Amino acid sequence: MNVLVLHGPNLNLLGEREPHLYGRTTLAELDAQLAARAAELGMAIRCYQSNHEGSLIDFLQAERRWARGLLLNAGALTHTSWALHDAVRAVGLPCVEVHLTDVQTREAWRHFSVLEGIRQAVFSGKGVESYLEGLAFLASHG
Ligand code: DQA
Repeated sequence: MNVLVLHGPNLNLLGEREPHLYGRTTLAELDAQLAARAAELGMAIRCYQSNHEGSLIDFLQAERRWARGLLLNAGALTHTSWALHDAVRAVGLPCVEVHLTDVQTREAWRHFSVLEGIRQAVFSGKGVESYLEGLAFLASHG
């Protein structure tokens, strides 16, 4: 199974960004862990990070025919981007939303997700493990 892994704004700074919240693992290390787990699960992944909403949408559109699933941490765009909502709907890929932190116990504006109603599952609050659990979910439900 081919899976796209999309990381939204500011996730390029993982490892140095508020490590008490987001941990010390860098984005490169996270992607390497995902690639290793994907291989164990018999999956292939393509990872992409951007700070720009349109770039994330361009990547999703460009890769839509290769992929059979989407693992998405849209960062703050999770809470605001109807364009990203529309893009996920448009490509029609099974989508799993992931967050390193538990967004439901943080500021009120983080409680809402534009992916509500169109994603298959959410894994949050477990750091890197949120992504790994999301990948396993796609492997078993994709
Ligand atoms: C995040 C949570 C978002 O609210 C925040 O804007 C992020 C990261 C997480 O992984 O916990 O950038 O998606």
